Amino acid sequence: MTDQELLERADTIAGRAYAPYSGFHVGCAVLCRDGEVVEGVNVENGAYPLGVCAERAAFSCAIVAGYGPGDFVVAAITASPCGGCRQWLAEMRVERVVFRNGGRVVEMTVDEILPEQFEL
Ligand code: THU
Repeated sequence: MTDQELLERADTIAGRAYAPYSGFHVGCAVLCRDGEVVEGVNVENGAYPLGVCAERAAFSCAIVAGYGPGDFVVAAITASPCGGCRQWLAEMRVERVVFRNGGRVVEMTVDEILPEQFEL
Protein backbone atom coordinates (compact mmCIF):
# COMPACT_ATOMS: atom_id res chain seq x y z
CA MET A 1 0.00 0.00 0.00
CA THR A 2 1.52 3.33 -1.07
CA ASP A 3 1.14 6.60 0.84
CA GLN A 4 -1.04 7.85 -2.01
CA GLU A 5 -3.34 4.83 -1.73
CA LEU A 6 -3.55 5.24 2.05
CA LEU A 7 -4.44 8.92 1.66
CA GLU A 8 -7.17 7.91 -0.80
CA ARG A 9 -8.54 5.53 1.85
CA ALA A 10 -8.62 8.51 4.25
CA ASP A 11 -10.40 10.64 1.63
CA THR A 12 -13.06 7.97 1.10
CA ILE A 13 -13.71 7.28 4.77
CA ALA A 14 -14.00 11.04 5.46
CA GLY A 15 -17.39 10.75 3.76
CA ARG A 16 -18.62 8.94 6.88
CA ALA A 17 -17.65 11.73 9.27
CA TYR A 18 -20.36 12.95 11.59
CA ALA A 19 -19.68 16.67 11.48
CA PRO A 20 -23.02 18.52 11.49
CA TYR A 21 -21.62 21.48 13.45
CA SER A 22 -18.40 22.32 11.63
CA GLY A 23 -19.25 20.73 8.28
CA PHE A 24 -15.54 19.79 8.19
CA HIS A 25 -15.18 16.11 7.37
CA VAL A 26 -11.87 14.48 8.35
CA GLY A 27 -10.70 10.95 7.56
CA CYS A 28 -7.72 9.03 8.91
CA ALA A 29 -6.35 5.71 7.60
CA VAL A 30 -3.58 3.98 9.55
CA LEU A 31 -1.41 1.28 7.99
CA CYS A 32 -0.42 -1.36 10.54
CA ARG A 33 2.74 -3.48 10.36
CA ASP A 34 0.71 -6.57 9.41
CA GLY A 35 -0.69 -4.75 6.35
CA GLU A 36 -4.14 -4.09 7.80
CA VAL A 37 -5.63 -0.60 7.55
CA VAL A 38 -7.64 0.91 10.41
CA GLU A 39 -9.81 3.93 9.68
CA GLY A 40 -11.42 6.74 11.65
CA VAL A 41 -13.52 9.86 11.13
CA ASN A 42 -14.34 12.85 13.27
CA VAL A 43 -17.48 12.44 15.35
CA GLU A 44 -18.88 15.72 16.67
CA ASN A 45 -21.28 16.40 19.50
CA GLY A 46 -23.73 19.19 20.33
CA ALA A 47 -21.63 19.77 23.44
CA TYR A 48 -18.72 20.82 21.21
CA PRO A 49 -15.67 19.82 23.31
CA LEU A 50 -16.94 16.24 23.47
CA GLY A 51 -16.35 15.67 19.75
CA VAL A 52 -13.63 13.23 18.68
CA CYS A 53 -11.04 13.82 15.96
CA ALA A 54 -10.61 11.32 13.12
CA GLU A 55 -7.12 10.32 14.31
CA ARG A 56 -8.28 9.52 17.84
CA ALA A 57 -11.25 7.55 16.44
CA ALA A 58 -8.86 5.53 14.24
CA PHE A 59 -6.37 4.77 17.01
CA SER A 60 -9.16 3.93 19.45
CA CYS A 61 -10.48 1.37 16.91
CA ALA A 62 -6.93 0.04 16.47
CA ILE A 63 -6.52 -0.48 20.21
CA VAL A 64 -9.86 -2.30 20.34
CA ALA A 65 -8.68 -4.51 17.45
CA GLY A 66 -5.61 -5.50 19.46
CA TYR A 67 -2.93 -3.19 18.08
CA GLY A 68 -0.70 -1.05 20.24
CA PRO A 69 2.10 1.53 20.18
CA GLY A 70 4.79 0.51 17.69
CA ASP A 71 2.37 -1.44 15.46
CA PHE A 72 1.76 1.50 13.11
CA VAL A 73 3.75 2.40 10.00
CA VAL A 74 1.92 5.36 8.45
CA ALA A 75 -1.08 7.50 9.39
CA ALA A 76 -2.72 9.29 6.46
CA ILE A 77 -5.02 12.19 7.33
CA THR A 78 -7.14 14.44 5.12
CA ALA A 79 -6.19 17.53 7.16
CA SER A 80 -3.23 18.76 9.17
CA PRO A 81 -3.44 17.07 12.58
CA CYS A 82 -4.33 19.29 15.55
CA GLY A 83 -1.95 19.63 18.49
CA GLY A 84 -3.79 17.05 20.60
CA CYS A 85 -3.75 14.51 17.78
CA ARG A 86 -0.02 15.08 17.32
CA GLN A 87 0.36 13.96 20.92
CA TRP A 88 -1.73 10.85 20.11
CA LEU A 89 0.41 10.11 17.05
CA ALA A 90 3.49 10.36 19.27
CA GLU A 91 1.96 8.10 21.94
CA MET A 92 1.22 5.47 19.27
CA ARG A 93 4.79 5.75 17.93
CA VAL A 94 3.66 6.03 14.31
CA GLU A 95 6.70 6.00 12.00
CA ARG A 96 5.40 8.55 9.50
CA VAL A 97 2.46 10.90 9.06
CA VAL A 98 1.08 11.95 5.65
CA PHE A 99 -1.55 14.67 5.44
CA ARG A 100 -3.17 17.20 3.14
CA ASN A 101 -2.54 20.85 3.95
CA GLY A 102 -3.88 23.58 1.69
CA GLY A 103 -3.54 21.62 -1.54
CA ARG A 104 -0.16 20.14 -0.60
CA VAL A 105 0.59 16.64 0.61
CA VAL A 106 3.01 16.77 3.55
CA GLU A 107 4.99 13.83 4.91
CA MET A 108 6.69 14.05 8.30
CA THR A 109 7.95 11.92 11.13
CA VAL A 110 6.34 12.25 14.53
CA ASP A 111 9.54 13.91 15.80
CA GLU A 112 9.05 16.56 13.14
CA ILE A 113 5.37 17.26 13.84
CA LEU A 114 5.89 17.19 17.61
CA PRO A 115 9.47 17.94 18.63
CA GLU A 116 10.74 17.51 22.19
CA GLN A 117 7.81 15.27 23.12
CA PHE A 118 6.33 14.99 26.56
CA GLU A 119 6.99 11.55 28.01
CA LEU A 120 6.28 10.14 31.46
N1 THU B 1 -10.48 17.50 13.36
C1 THU B 1 -10.02 16.22 13.22
O1 THU B 1 -10.80 15.28 13.06
N2 THU B 1 -8.67 16.03 13.27
C2 THU B 1 -7.75 17.03 13.44
O2 THU B 1 -6.57 16.75 13.63
C3 THU B 1 -8.18 18.42 13.33
C4 THU B 1 -9.64 18.66 13.59
C5 THU B 1 -11.95 17.73 13.35
C6 THU B 1 -12.50 18.11 14.70
C7 THU B 1 -13.79 18.81 14.30
O3 THU B 1 -14.81 17.82 14.18
C8 THU B 1 -13.50 19.38 12.93
O4 THU B 1 -12.29 18.76 12.48
C9 THU B 1 -13.32 20.88 12.92
O5 THU B 1 -12.38 21.29 13.83
